[in-house]
Amino acid sequence: MALYLVTGAAGFIGAALAAALVRAGHEVVGADNLSTGFRENVPAGVRFFYGDCGLPDLYGGILPARPYDAVFHIAGQSSGEISFDNPLYDMQANAASTLRLSRFALDNGCTRFIYAGSMSVYGVQPDAPAREDAPCRPESFYGVSKLASEHYLRLNERYGMRFTSLRLFNVYGPGQNMTNMRQGMVSIFMAMMLKDGHIRVKGRPDRYRDFVYIDDVVRAFTACLERRESEGRALNIGGSGRITVGALTDKLAALSPTPVNVGYAGGTPGDVHGIYADMTLARECLGYVPRMSLDEGLARMYAALTAQSPA
Ligand SMILES: NC(=O)c1ccc[n+]([C@@H]2O[C@H](COP(=O)([O-])OP(=O)(O)OC[C@H]3O[C@@H](n4cnc5c(N)ncnc54)[C@H](O)[C@@H]3O)[C@@H](O)[C@H]2O)c1
Repeated sequence: MALYLVTGAAGFIGAALAAALVRAGHEVVGADNLSTGFRENVPAGVRFFYGDCGLPDLYGGILPARPYDAVFHIAGQSSGEISFDNPLYDMQANAASTLRLSRFALDNGCTRFIYAGSMSVYGVQPDAPAREDAPCRPESFYGVSKLASEHYLRLNERYGMRFTSLRLFNVYGPGQNMTNMRQGMVSIFMAMMLKDGHIRVKGRPDRYRDFVYIDDVVRAFTACLERRESEGRALNIGGSGRITVGALTDKLAALSPTPVNVGYAGGTPGDVHGIYADMTLARECLGYVPRMSLDEGLARMYAALTAQSPA
C-alpha cells in the first residue's frame, strides 16, 4: 500500500483522483483550503487536512510518518478569468504553493511530484494541435503561474525530484462545481441550460477547445506512477480534439428535452480564440489515449445532474 498526498482533494479533479487512489487500496492524505472546494467532496477513506499549500500552517499536519510515495499537487486557483481580479492571489495559490509544497516534499524524502498543469501556459497558438515544445506565452496571470510552477519543478530536479506536469485542457464531468459561473466551460453552460434553458456565451461561437472527461484525466494521473518515461516532462492531456463553442452548445442543447436558447455577447479576459492538444507525447510517455467521447461524456454528466435534481 503506497502513501500519497493529494492537494485540492475537496475540489473537482483532486476528489476524483483521491477516490481512485483509495479504491486502488492506497493510503491517501488530502489537503485543501476549501476556497472553491467543499469538505463533503473529500472521498471517504482520505485523511483530510484543512490548510493552504502556500502557507506554513498546513505543513505540520501533513508531515508523514514515512515519506510520501508521490505528491499529486492538484490544488490551485483554477480560473484564468478570476486571475485578472487579483493576480497576486493567483501567484500565491498557484506558483508559491507549488514551490512551497515541492520543497516540503523534498525535505521529507519524497522525490515524485505530479502536477495539475494547464493548457493556459501556451497562450495564442496557430489552428493546429498544440505540441508541448510550442513557445509558451500565457495570456492570463493564471497561465503565468502555472508555467512558473513547471519551472520550479524543473529546477527541483537538481535536488533529486522527479516531476510530471499534466497540461490539462478543458476538464468536465460529474463532480464539477455547478455553482462557480467563472470556471469550466461545460459546467457553466450546463448549469445555465438547467436553470432557465438559456446559455449565455461570453465570446464567439467559432472559438474552439479540447474537452477531456474527468475519468480520462484521473487515468492520466495514475499512469504517471507506472510510467517512468513521463518523468521530467510536461504532457498534454486533451480528450475530444478540436470542438467549437458553437458545436458544444449544440451538443448540450440536444440533451435537453425542452428548447434551449443560445446567446453570444462580450468576452472573457485572457481567453485565447482556440486551442487543442497534440497528444503524441502523452501517448508515447504515458500510454495515454482518451477513452470517453464528448457525446457520451456530456450525456453522462447531464444524466448525473438531472438524476440529482428533485422532480
Ligand atoms: N478544470 C479544468 O478544466 C482544469 C484545466 C487545467 C488545469 N486545471 C488545474 O487542475 C487543478 C484542479 O482544478 P479543478 O477543476 O479541480 O478546480 P477546483 O476549484 O474544483 O479545485 C481546486 C481545489 O484546490 C483548493 N485550493 C485552491 N487553492 C488552494 C491552496 N492555495 N491551498 C490549498 N487548497 C487550495 C480549492 O479549495 C479546491 O478544492 C487546478 O490546479 C487547476 O489549475 C484544471
